[in-house]
This record gives sequence, structure tokens and C-alpha cells, in this order.
Amino acid sequence: MKLYTAMKPYAPKTWDLSGLDGISDATLETHFKLYEGYVKNTNLLNERLAELRKNEKNEGENPAFAELVRRLGFEYNGMRLHEYYFDNMTKRPSALSGGKLYEALGEAYGGFEDWKRDFMAVGGMRGIGWAIAYCDTTNGAITNHWIDDHEDGHVAGFVPIVVLDVWEHAFIKDYKPAEKDKYIEAFFRNIDWKACEARLP
Ligand SMILES: [Fe+2]
Repeated sequence: MKLYTAMKPYAPKTWDLSGLDGISDATLETHFKLYEGYVKNTNLLNERLAELRKNEKNEGENPAFAELVRRLGFEYNGMRLHEYYFDNMTKRPSALSGGKLYEALGEAYGGFEDWKRDFMAVGGMRGIGWAIAYCDTTNGAITNHWIDDHEDGHVAGFVPIVVLDVWEHAFIKDYKPAEKDKYIEAFFRNIDWKACEARLP
């Protein structure tokens, strides 16, 4: 049998986002720790799976193996979506009032402001998850999607352009549970549109 080699662990990224408008440093500090937990758990899952593979315990009938494989979507997405989220914020934001991204976001919704209204509505849905504006690489269309937890609702092959965390931990230190809309407005004041535009395929 070919020897199984365990994959290289992921290293957590860091961001300098202190002083955001409407999203406190205390919230960010907690959030960075949660993100680091996802990186740690992704690595842990891979280590444990590597161990099972090494011992030829990677069988579909093995509940331990199956549970670890099922959790990959949660932990990997928890890691990667937070990276997209922190990457698309900046403490030196500039307004988006034209250009390639502005046009692309507005195309399927009638205009940028209509896209924004829809994206905010998706973010404002009840429950925990993510609002993501995704680009379909087959036709260039950008559409807004709701992701339950970290893993349910992604569209295969679509590229994330704007990524918003709407789990309660993202805003509960700064706003009341019923004030998610205020947090979403704050997110919009801190978006790094250049980073989002660079994601366009
Ligand atoms: Fe989060």
C-alpha cells in the first residue's frame, strides 16, 4: 500500500483592523480567537483523519471516520469564510461609486443600491450564518446567497466577492440581538471594496 502522507497544517492569518467604525476592537479580539479555533480544529481533523488512513481505518462503515469527514465542511468553511470576511474589511475604507465591481454587483439587481438592499436583506434573515455575494464564473453574474452555519448553501464553483458574517458573535458585544441591521450597516461602512474587486474572476 502507498504510504499516506499527512497534509501540512494551516497557519492562522492576522489582521490589523483596530478602530473600525461600529465594530469594536473587543468584538474583533473575540472574533480572531474564534477564527483561530477553526484553524486549529481544521488541522486537528486532518491529523485525526491521517491517523485513521495510516491505520487503514478509513472505512465508510466506521462511524468515527464518517463523523470526522462530515465535520470537514464546518471547520474548513469556518476557517476560510472568516479569512474572506476579515480580508474584505479595512480601517481606511473608500466609497464605491463606480467602476468594474460597482457595475458587476448591480447587474443582476437593477443597480448597485438594489444589490446592496438585497444583500442587507439576506444578511438580516433570521438565524446564524453568512451573507455572500457570489460570482458565477460561467456567466459573470453576481448573486446573493445565505449560508447556514458555515457550510450549507454554497454554490459549487461560485467565487465569493463580498462576505459578511452574521453569526451573533460578530456583533453581540456592540449591538442588541435585535439590532443586526445596525451591525450590517457598520459592516458596509468598513468594506474594503478594492479587496472585493480583486476577487472578481
Ligand atoms: Fe464569525
